[in-house]
Amino acid sequence: MDIEPPTGLRCEHLVDPLGVDVSRPLLSWTLENPGRGQTVRAFRVIVASDEENALKETGDVWDSGLVTPAGSNSVEYGGKRLRSCTRYHWRVMWVSGGKEASRFSDVARFGTGLLDRRAWKARWIGRARCTEHVSGESVNVGITTGPLVLAHGVYLRKEFSTPCSERVRRATACICGLGFYELYMNGRRVGDRVLDPAQTDYGKTALYSTYDVTDLVGERNAVGILLGNGRYIKNYGFSHPRAILQIQIEYVSGGKETIVTDGSWKCSHGPLLENGLYSGERYDARLEMPGWDQPGFSDSDWDRAVTLRERMPVSQMVQPIRVTRTITPDRVSKPEPGIHVVDFGQNFAGWVRLRMKGPRGTRISLRYAELVDDEGMLNMGPNQKADASDIYIMKGGGPESFEPKFTYHGFRYVEVKGYPGTLTKDDIQGRALNSDMEGTGRFRCSNGLFNKIHDNILRGFCSNAMGLPTDCPQRDERYGWLADAHLAAEMAMFNYHTAAFYRKFLRDIRLAQKRNGSLPNVAPPYLPLYPADPAWGSAYITIAWLLHNHYGDTRLLREHYPYMKRYVDFLSKVSEDHVIRGIGKFGDWCSPGETYPKKTPVELTSTWYYFHDVLLLSRIAGLLGERKDAETLSNLSERIRDSFNREFFDGVRYRGGGPGAGNGVLNQTSNILPLSLGMVPEGKEKTLVEEMVSSLKDDHDHHLDTGIVGTRYILDVLTDAGHGEAACRVASQRTYPGWGYMIERGATTLWERWEEYTGDGMNSHNHIMFGSIDAWFYRVLAGISCLSPGWGKIQVRPHVLGELTFAEAAVKTVRGTVSVSWRRDDDSFTMDLQVPVGCESVIWIPLLWKGASIREGDSVIWERGKKTETVKDISFTGVDGMHAGFRSGSGTFRFVEKRQA
Ligand code: BGC
Repeated sequence: MDIEPPTGLRCEHLVDPLGVDVSRPLLSWTLENPGRGQTVRAFRVIVASDEENALKETGDVWDSGLVTPAGSNSVEYGGKRLRSCTRYHWRVMWVSGGKEASRFSDVARFGTGLLDRRAWKARWIGRARCTEHVSGESVNVGITTGPLVLAHGVYLRKEFSTPCSERVRRATACICGLGFYELYMNGRRVGDRVLDPAQTDYGKTALYSTYDVTDLVGERNAVGILLGNGRYIKNYGFSHPRAILQIQIEYVSGGKETIVTDGSWKCSHGPLLENGLYSGERYDARLEMPGWDQPGFSDSDWDRAVTLRERMPVSQMVQPIRVTRTITPDRVSKPEPGIHVVDFGQNFAGWVRLRMKGPRGTRISLRYAELVDDEGMLNMGPNQKADASDIYIMKGGGPESFEPKFTYHGFRYVEVKGYPGTLTKDDIQGRALNSDMEGTGRFRCSNGLFNKIHDNILRGFCSNAMGLPTDCPQRDERYGWLADAHLAAEMAMFNYHTAAFYRKFLRDIRLAQKRNGSLPNVAPPYLPLYPADPAWGSAYITIAWLLHNHYGDTRLLREHYPYMKRYVDFLSKVSEDHVIRGIGKFGDWCSPGETYPKKTPVELTSTWYYFHDVLLLSRIAGLLGERKDAETLSNLSERIRDSFNREFFDGVRYRGGGPGAGNGVLNQTSNILPLSLGMVPEGKEKTLVEEMVSSLKDDHDHHLDTGIVGTRYILDVLTDAGHGEAACRVASQRTYPGWGYMIERGATTLWERWEEYTGDGMNSHNHIMFGSIDAWFYRVLAGISCLSPGWGKIQVRPHVLGELTFAEAAVKTVRGTVSVSWRRDDDSFTMDLQVPVGCESVIWIPLLWKGASIREGDSVIWERGKKTETVKDISFTGVDGMHAGFRSGSGTFRFVEKRQA
């Protein structure tokens, strides 16, 4: 049988990226269509200077030869020194354990950016002074509304020619524009990125993007850059946006030319009168400057740009933000004369595209909200201080359309005022944006509520993936709150290819670290809240750990290890006798009826996360071969556990705390946390679990009573303790508090709180921090989990809970697709399974009936509590609770369990 060539080729975790800026990029791929017990003997990668050479037998840039894989399907580039702004073409083949060789894969590409800071010849440029634009409208330039500045967009332009005797072989543009930019060439918008570049701590670093502009360069050329404010202006005290651009042109003749931003560029204001991340945009189409981005435009009344001395940017190696969905409204209503309210039927982050026709000077205003009141008018409460409004002034004379550029809103409803005529569903569309990561997961089951929760979580994650994981898209925050990020990270890794996204975020966190190791609550630290609540700061180690697990890239752990250590040292320094008091603030944030936790002591969550981080770091140290550290950290974790128990355990249960704790009811979070990490003193665990399960039933009627921290672990703890049914009841609740309650109330994303609306502003309807339940769907209902870094060892252990009759999930891992699909009826349980090449699989079949038999394919492999026939490639490992265990390798399998008469 032929073995299939590799697919899913990536460089630095991205598909065909441009702007690669490391000298030894990581090349990776997946292997699909696994045969039984298929292993990998070797890979061979060839890298070539062009497509033609890539199709030859060997690469003219690199031929790895046959290499034995060390771990996952990846190789670090080891060929000739890479050159800046150059395109490389590569392919890979593999040899199986049985020595069959595959064909080479299709050709993938990667392009380098400016590999060396000295390769930057361009200068940062900006506008010298902040003059007001006169538009007939009264427009304030540079005023602050809410916390971010509303200032005009800046237009920059420059013309250049190429020699008529030359043909362009390749042109590459590297650009950074802060806060955000759009790049134009010869009347065309370059690329489809929006809100680019991804936000960073601009005082320390900024990111440039790389575009292939070969097809846009002609003999006479004009380059235009439009700049918006983003967070750059207010947070960094800079008064004007700035940009840097370098276009490297290579001619067929071998000649080269570099076009750069410098003092010869011109700048102006234009139709984009104001733009603010929270406030929105004001755009006066009457001020448009047709041809400003084309050669021949008269810019004599434009100002000269000034050059600025700032640090050079580094390459943005993360998926850009794009418009990923266009949404048709469900309904347009007219609650009052002159006011249309559009309902998109779902909450999302982005903006609208509006089409209209009418008289010049018509002013249309848009306001965005997540909720409407009983009269159908917008409820702007959840937006807090974000104005969330856009204004468009029409130029008239024909059909026109408007779509903002440098803002975004979190909303389901839009109010449109001043629209000329009657607004219909055809005139307005929702445009949803997010960091454009490839989907890698699929989950469905027979419980419609779970499917809805899953869908809401995906919408919520996307709404909060904006170059960094944010808390919410609607109010004047949208920050990288660390807890929100790590609590949702595992869920995200099942569903999307997040390696580059979280790699960027880990760097944001590292850059934000203080010399004493302290981390902020928010990264980049737009709110300089130091030190982080330990439940927030844990993001650094937790996300690094999860990333390594899901993507198997050890380089990241190595890069961050010294700084993670520094963070743990910081925690040690602030602890007293291994208990952390004082620096925690939010703890089990947002449990029912509150934001700040009244029931769960913050010192308990803080100390628990201290233990958690030290434990993970000791494992990381072990993986990196830092044996001494691993041992020291592991000893430290034991001391923390002892202190934790001394401080919070009363011999039977862990205490709650604060005014809400005095009623004798067992505190869920306080007890879930130590159970989840096996911290309970020996011999005490069983009683504690029993107490917890009976309290869940008697005191809470199977509802959770947890905030974001407890919620992350409650379902896993119950399931692992053999109480999957109780977990399933908690997850299935349709009454308050629970995910199902949100759905019953019409939620299309997750709320910030278990309450729908409290009126105190803390009522985002699009937070992702309760989204951890989705990982439980994958790991427990479908049963897929990763047992060793990079999915080398996979566990499949489905749970048939509640009324479930089927569940299916597929995860495109770095090895290939793992998929599980099971269904049950009164007499049988059937599970189809796919395990990728090179993986070890640990398969657990739920034992649904006493004395059932299990077949795999045509062979009965288990009967009456015992292993029967021996099937090649599958070995029986024993019974654990309610599952029978088998071990195997890769392949597709069908297990059928039958009830015996
Ligand atoms: C944010 C969060 C965040 C929290 C810190 C809120 O305002 O929206 O989700 O984690 O503050 O307690």
